[in-house]
Amino acid sequence: MRRYSRNKILGSRLAPVAGAVILIAAAVAAADIRSVVEYRKDVMLGMAAHLTALTGLLAGEMEFDESHVAAQATSLGLNAQLISSLFPPGSDSGETAALPEIWQRPEQFLAWAEAAEREGRNLLAAVEADDRQFMLRSLKRLADACRNCHQDFRSEGSPRK
Ligand code: HEC
Repeated sequence: MRRYSRNKILGSRLAPVAGAVILIAAAVAAADIRSVVEYRKDVMLGMAAHLTALTGLLAGEMEFDESHVAAQATSLGLNAQLISSLFPPGSDSGETAALPEIWQRPEQFLAWAEAAEREGRNLLAAVEADDRQFMLRSLKRLADACRNCHQDFRSEGSPRK
């Protein structure tokens, strides 16, 4: 009996604590979703910057040595290989232009993501092989994958087209 009542007291003392823990957990969960979306946009913006930088270098617009081409292509290639993992279930809310179709029609979405990831690997291989033609082809195919996926799965109202 004593045991029971002690548990009861503990229980009643713990109730508000449990409530607070649930509130904190909910806040953390909300923060997680927000940061997934923010992180996803950071990675996308980063790829856009590397893509523009690399395109400029390959067009010979600036006088930089090979290490710049290698650095931009490597960064772009590594990040492109992360794309399919940037859209975990539940990351469809908040300030996002990601369309719900991503999670409703994942086959097509993953097809574009995989195309981008394959070209990301090819970019790294092109750096390794020091092969400009291969790099240009991969870069073009990668840019196509970016565009195709945005057409299908990014909302029209997105701040950046
Ligand atoms: C498989 C689909 C897919 C691929 C491939 C893809 N993106 Fe995206 N991208 C998206 C979606 C969806 C969003 C919207 C994300 C959001 O708002 O949560 C987005 C957003 C962006 C944004 C806007 C970020 C912001 O701050 O709002 C940029 C820039 C971008 N992508 C660049 C790229 C580039 C460059 C590539 C190729 C190297 C690429 N994306 C490949 C689906 C894709």
